[in-house]
Amino acid sequence: MVEPNGSTLFICFLIVNLAEGACKIDIWKKFVDCSRLNLEQVPTDISHDVEKLDLSYNILTKIKKEDFYHLSNLRILNLSYNNISSIDNDSLNTNILLENLSLFNNSLTEMPSELLEPLKNLKVLDMSNNFYNSSTLGNVFKKLVYLKNLSFGGPMIKTILKDDFVPIQDIELERFALKTQSSLEGYEVGAFSMVNTRDIWFDIALDKYADALPLILKDLAEKSFENMRFRNLFEFTYYTESMDIFSGLKYIHVDSLTFYRGKFNEYLLYLVLNNIEKPSNISDLLLLSVDFARSPNSNKTGERIENLSLENLVIQDVTNPDILRFDWTFTWFSNIRNLHIVNVNFNFVPCDAWNHMTKLESLNITGNRLLARYLYNPTCQLSLPAIKMFNASDNTMTSLRTISLLMATWSNLSVVDLSFNNIGSINESCIWPSKITTFILHDNPLIYDISLCLPLTLEYLDMSNSQLERLNMNYFNQVNNLRVLILRNNKIKFIPTGWKSLSLEVLALEGNSFGVIDGGSFKYLPSLRNLTAGNNPYYCNCDLYAFITETLSDKNISLLDWPGSYYCYHPQNLVDTKIEYFNPGKLQCDVGLVVAISVAVTAVVVIICMMLCWKYNVPWYLRATCQIIRSKYRSKNSEDNREFVYHAFISYSYLDADWVREVLLPRLENSTPPYRLCIHERDFLPGRWIIDNIIDNIENSRKIIFVLSRSFVNSEWCNYELYFAHQRNIGHAFEDVILVVKENVSLEDLPKRFYRLRKMLKAKTYLEWPSDQKRQPFFWVQLKSILGGANQTVTGQDNLSVISETVVDRQTDPCVVSTVTNSSQTFPVS
Ligand SMILES: *[C@@H]1O[C@H](CO)[C@@H](O)[C@H](O)[C@H]1NC(C)=O
Ligand SMILES: *[C@@H]1O[C@H](CO)[C@@H](O)[C@H](O)[C@H]1NC(C)=O
Ligand SMILES: *[C@@H]1O[C@H](CO)[C@@H](O)[C@H](O)[C@H]1NC(C)=O
Ligand SMILES: *[C@@H]1O[C@H](CO)[C@@H](O)[C@H](O)[C@H]1NC(C)=O
Ligand SMILES: *[C@@H]1O[C@H](CO)[C@@H](O)[C@H](O)[C@H]1NC(C)=O
Ligand SMILES: *[C@@H]1O[C@H](CO)[C@@H](O)[C@H](O)[C@H]1NC(C)=O
Ligand SMILES: *[C@@H]1O[C@H](CO)[C@@H](O)[C@H](O)[C@H]1NC(C)=O
Ligand SMILES: *[C@@H]1O[C@H](CO)[C@@H](O)[C@H](O)[C@H]1NC(C)=O
Ligand SMILES: *[C@@H]1O[C@H](CO)[C@@H](O)[C@H](O)[C@H]1NC(C)=O
Ligand SMILES: *[C@@H]1O[C@H](CO)[C@@H](O)[C@H](O)[C@H]1NC(C)=O
Ligand SMILES: *[C@@H]1O[C@H](CO)[C@@H](O)[C@H](O)[C@H]1NC(C)=O
Ligand SMILES: *[C@@H]1O[C@H](CO)[C@@H](O)[C@H](O)[C@H]1NC(C)=O
Repeated sequence: MVEPNGSTLFICFLIVNLAEGACKIDIWKKFVDCSRLNLEQVPTDISHDVEKLDLSYNILTKIKKEDFYHLSNLRILNLSYNNISSIDNDSLNTNILLENLSLFNNSLTEMPSELLEPLKNLKVLDMSNNFYNSSTLGNVFKKLVYLKNLSFGGPMIKTILKDDFVPIQDIELERFALKTQSSLEGYEVGAFSMVNTRDIWFDIALDKYADALPLILKDLAEKSFENMRFRNLFEFTYYTESMDIFSGLKYIHVDSLTFYRGKFNEYLLYLVLNNIEKPSNISDLLLLSVDFARSPNSNKTGERIENLSLENLVIQDVTNPDILRFDWTFTWFSNIRNLHIVNVNFNFVPCDAWNHMTKLESLNITGNRLLARYLYNPTCQLSLPAIKMFNASDNTMTSLRTISLLMATWSNLSVVDLSFNNIGSINESCIWPSKITTFILHDNPLIYDISLCLPLTLEYLDMSNSQLERLNMNYFNQVNNLRVLILRNNKIKFIPTGWKSLSLEVLALEGNSFGVIDGGSFKYLPSLRNLTAGNNPYYCNCDLYAFITETLSDKNISLLDWPGSYYCYHPQNLVDTKIEYFNPGKLQCDVGLVVAISVAVTAVVVIICMMLCWKYNVPWYLRATCQIIRSKYRSKNSEDNREFVYHAFISYSYLDADWVREVLLPRLENSTPPYRLCIHERDFLPGRWIIDNIIDNIENSRKIIFVLSRSFVNSEWCNYELYFAHQRNIGHAFEDVILVVKENVSLEDLPKRFYRLRKMLKAKTYLEWPSDQKRQPFFWVQLKSILGGANQTVTGQDNLSVISETVVDRQTDPCVVSTVTNSSQTFPVS
């Protein structure tokens, strides 16, 4: 009888090969879908656990006892659209949990009553569109006490007998649906009085037996139905008799009456409407896909339908728009609350139509290929004082301004739906009635300028899927009550900065083209609660990170589509990374933190530097270096010819003093001619600062002799002397330095601060003081040759060469190990 009920289940399927083709099995193994596999037999290896089995659209012809024997958990079995002509009576004996069974559109020649015997839990049974020739329900139906939906019958049923439905007379059904052959031939009074159901669907054509309808309606008198539906009431011929076949409708309580398909002429429509005029209680009338035509000799003078009072009148999918004024008037609209004229191909609204719609609260004219100017005729009286909702989506309207003119006087209008039209450019402002709060404009080729023509009273604005590239903030700054703004799937390239709105609560921005968004983007939207902004080409940087963390931590705002649709688009290395996993780190992003850390680090470095300076006399070094440079500058001109006071300055440690005094000095100073040597304990000027002494005497000596020994290495002062020797020698590769190794000091033994000495030891050959007496003369020859001839002029300053042991005391003795080496002291890198 009726077309199949298409409830779609969204379940993940695993493809599993079963013996007879690939049935799809969901991951919980509860639902096996074997539909459309050309199966001739029920697969044998279906899991015992299956609860729902779909075998529709196959070529099964026979159901055998063993087919479902093991499927004791089966609750839903769909055998529709097969060619089943025989079913073993005990095929479902073990499937006692079965609730829904469909045998729709098969070739059964007998109602399978025996089969149903064990199915005490059956709720939904569809066995219509089969070839049995009787609508007599078997006694088995008395036991199906949970039955809710029953569909049966088929093209072979010619007559309905009085006792056909007796077995279900005590069952409260939700839906009773019966199909008969193309034109019913017989109806025995009383049959339908047995039926108790909420919805009743007739798939009964009365082409040749219209008289049956009054009988049927009479049997239904005093009953209540939520929905009464007639399908193909007149399948091939128009009703031409004069009898009022619908007069019985007055006595039935029906909420919603539907005519689906079937032939209608103006007279049949008149009969229907006339019978549901007041005082009928029908609230909804639906005329769906009916085939309307006016009779050739139609009669303009008939009675008018003026008192039809309906909640909803739906005229949908009717190819002939004449149905709208079937009796040449529009008076039947005058008491309709919600009028739906959907897909009816009308393209013109005469003035009198508007006149009869004054009680309309909503007008739904979707899907009609209408242009705005088909609706708007300035000469008509267009006042619809009650209308609140206008839905003209899915038409071909282009001019928003024309629509605004049409609505100018609809003073109660609050909802306008113009989605799926062709509304685009506009360069004029528009005037709207003052109560419009909801405006739906999605799926239009909108442009920036559209805002010029939008009402300022809006609370809800949907402009999704509309190719908008930017927002006219001039408009958005003026709509003070806007609460919901849907802008998804546009091409918006940037979020305006400083977007201010006190009212905005919901903002949908997903699927646009902006990549930059930052923490402050929405800070002037204090009421914002729901935000969606996924599927944008995000530039994953600190701003974005800040935005995400701030938004997620803000208790007021829900980022509804987080994290599913948020991906990085820039930079290259992050493309397609989920933003959820993008974590640039605090250091990289927190400017405050970076500044704080830099300041702290700088402060620490400065403090350390200051401490080191203080500790290692750096100011003094600077001064000393300065002096050296100055003295170098002074003596620049007389470079090599300059005169020195001493042939050599001897740097040694306190422990080597004896050797210097008793071996080195006599040997050199008593040679002929004598060398003039400087040693601190004898030649330093008493009373002068020791460092100055060192510097001056090094400056005044042609060579500097370092007497290397372990104690030298341990002496801080000696290191100073090395330092000054080095300073003096900058650029001279230590030419003036003579290293006398008195005790073997290995490079490894040298503390780090003696890096200068290391450098020298590596770069220069040094003289080793041989302990073997025989080799000592050679040492002296070597030393003297390095010192050069003693006859080279040095200016005598005998008066300075006075030893004053009393002044140069132990503490100030330059090259003395004053204490045991303090190893923590390091020489600063100059
Ligand atoms: C049976 O399958 C058909 C086609 O797949 C479907 O339209 C119908 O709703 C199904 N019926 C039941 C009871 O599952
Ligand atoms: C259905 O089965 C019958 C035989 O039982 C066969 O004659 C008929 O052609 C089949 N119909 C279809 C559509 O396969
Ligand atoms: C099923 O049961 C009916 C009535 O008891 C009987 O007439 C019919 O032959 C049985 N069919 C089969 C296939 O057993
Ligand atoms: C089975 O029947 C119940 C009761 O009418 C219904 O709610 C449910 O949707 C049905 N299941 C299917 C798959 O048709
Ligand atoms: C029933 O199935 C046949 C094919 O077997 C198909 O031609 C027919 O349209 C179907 N009937 C309905 C009402 O779907
Ligand atoms: C209905 O079909 C049965 C066989 O299935 C046949 O005996 C009976 O005469 C038919 N009845 C009518 C009214 O066609
Ligand atoms: C059962 O009937 C009710 C009422 O008409 C309907 O809402 C429901 O979808 C039906 N269930 C099935 C599975 O057909
Ligand atoms: C219509 O409803 C009224 C009360 O709302 C009730 O008294 C009357 O009987 C109903 N008429 C029918 C035909 O159901
Ligand atoms: C025209 O209407 C009149 C009065 O309603 C009626 O008597 C007459 O039969 C109608 N003619 C046709 C052709 O319907
Ligand atoms: C509509 O109802 C009013 C009063 O309820 C009545 O005067 C008028 O005749 C009715 N119109 C028709 C066409 O029945
Ligand atoms: C208008 O009609 C269309 C098509 O039937 C429907 O989808 C939509 O929900 C209706 N709108 C209103 C507001 O009733
Ligand atoms: C925000 O979204 C939630 C969840 O979708 C919803 O329940 C709530 O009503 C929305 N809030 C507003 C103001 O729309």
